Amino acid sequence: MTTDTTTKDTAPGAPAPGTTVLDARGVTMRFGGLTAVRDVDLTVNSGEIVGLIGPNGAGKTTFFNCLTGLYIPTEGEVRYKDKVLPPKSFKVTAAGIARTFQNIRLFANMTVLENVLVGRHTRTKEGFWSAILRGPGFHRAEAASRARAMELLEFVGLDAKADHLARNLPYGEQRKLEIARALASEPGLLLLDEPTAGMNPQETRAAEELIFAIRDQGIAVLVIEHDMRFIFNLCDRVAVLVQGQKLVEGDPATVQGTNASSPPTSANPWRTTPAPPKPPRSRPPKPRPSRRPKQPQPGHRPRRTRRQRRKPPRTPRPARRTTDDRTPRSRGPQSRLRQDPGRQGHLLQRRGR
Ligand SMILES: Nc1ncnc2c1ncn2[C@@H]1O[C@H](COP(=O)(O)OP(=O)(O)OP(=O)(O)O)[C@@H](O)[C@H]1O
Ligand SMILES: [Mg+2]
Repeated sequence: MTTDTTTKDTAPGAPAPGTTVLDARGVTMRFGGLTAVRDVDLTVNSGEIVGLIGPNGAGKTTFFNCLTGLYIPTEGEVRYKDKVLPPKSFKVTAAGIARTFQNIRLFANMTVLENVLVGRHTRTKEGFWSAILRGPGFHRAEAASRARAMELLEFVGLDAKADHLARNLPYGEQRKLEIARALASEPGLLLLDEPTAGMNPQETRAAEELIFAIRDQGIAVLVIEHDMRFIFNLCDRVAVLVQGQKLVEGDPATVQGTNASSPPTSANPWRTTPAPPKPPRSRPPKPRPSRRPKQPQPGHRPRRTRRQRRKPPRTPRPARRTTDDRTPRSRGPQSRLRQDPGRQGHLLQRRGR
């Protein structure tokens, strides 16, 4: 993987490091009677990697969907660089927020390069007529897009597979391709929903390096992950979501410390924390049976030994029948002849004997 890329095209008007790029206030998302996200505030500053963790069903992906215009929050407001985000995902992408999905969503029958080119459409000016007429301006724009897409593929380590179909890539590389496609829209904030799910430890480490490299380009990152080691290594700040509510927020050390002192009633969002030791058993252990033979009780009938219990020998079978005394089994003509001597005589007469 190349951790440096020559092009420094970040979203237009990239803010100075430390300024707030994302500001979500009081975000609430209700589905009928279910409140998936409840009054969540979260900020992400430029040049920062923020982690969002929590147990399954905590509302992390729903919160991402609220940020990216897939869901319109029931209550609350999301601002990106001080502007309220429009409730349409393509407008959110154009504003400068890109994302990947928990369940990989690639164009499976398109090549790796084409998938990245799709991600560039918000940054190209060529429209319908330009695509139909295919003038020199169109060819110039297409060549520039291809060059940038190849650069991004090199950045994530997939340049050698640019012509492969996306569906033929291994799982870890499909996740990288999703990241490359998201980067193609030149975002100022990248949202990653479980980027290392299904990856082996080597791939996870490579993904960690890749995210650091993305941050080094001035792109803020908000990442959902269940792998606590990955999150605490990677993030500058971590927020914990439990049952739709933000429980804790702070730097990794603070959040890890909070977990140790959290009451046992709150849901445990940590997968890597070992379970608390079990209390000692209240019941005394069962006494082991003594090996001394018991004294026979009066009136006690001793158990029969195995030999005594063995079945009596079977009565011998009757001797096998000889051919003469065998009763006919078949009901064919020969057996009928044996049973009917009169008929036998009749046959002998016919044969002239
Ligand atoms: N479109 C929807 N309609 C109804 N309920 C939904 C919808 N999307 C999510 N939910 C519910 O909202 C809750 C939060 O789901 P969400 O997918 O955000 O959790 P999560 O924290 O991402 O979990 P995981 O770690 O398993 O991905 C769940 O109870 C889920 O069933
Ligand atoms: Mg999720």
